[in-house]
Amino acid sequence: MQKFYATVAITLLVGSSILNAATYKGQKVYIESCKGCHGGGQALAGSKKQRIWKVIMANKGEQLAQIHLSSKKAEASWTYFNDRGYAKDAKHLEDFLVEYSGDSGNVPACN
Ligand code: HEC
Repeated sequence: MQKFYATVAITLLVGSSILNAATYKGQKVYIESCKGCHGGGQALAGSKKQRIWKVIMANKGEQLAQIHLSSKKAEASWTYFNDRGYAKDAKHLEDFLVEYSGDSGNVPACN
C-alpha cells in the first residue's frame, strides 16, 4: 500500500511539472532577458489580455521585437531581439505571458 501511495505521489509530481514546464521556461527567459528593463514579469504579463499577448507574440514574437527595435530607449535589447535565440525563446515567453495575462484568472504569487 505504501508503494502505491509513493507511485501516485511521484506520478502527480511529474505530471504537474510537465504541465508547468513551458510556463517555467518562459519565466526563466523573462528573468534573463527582460527583467532588467521591465521588472517583475507577472506584473508585465498582467498588464495585457491573453488576446493581446497572442497578437504581440505571433510569428515568433515579431511584434515584440519590432517594438524594441524601433525604440532608441530599448537599444540595449537590440542584440537580443536580433539574435536567433529570441525566435526560440518567443514561444516559451508567450506561454508565460498568456498564463499570467490580465484576464487569465491566475493570481500571481507574492514575489
Ligand atoms: C534594454 C531594455 C529592454 C529590454 C531588455 C526589454 N525591453 Fe521591453 N521595452 C523597453 C522599452 C524602452 C520599451 C518602450 C518602447 C517604446 O515605446 O518606445 C519596451 C516596450 C515593451 C513592451 C510594450 C509595452 C506596452 O505597454 O505596449 C512590451 C510588451 C515589452 N517591452 C516586453 C518585453 C519583453 C517580454 C522583453 C524580454 C524578451 C523585453 N521587453 C526586453 C525596454 C526593454
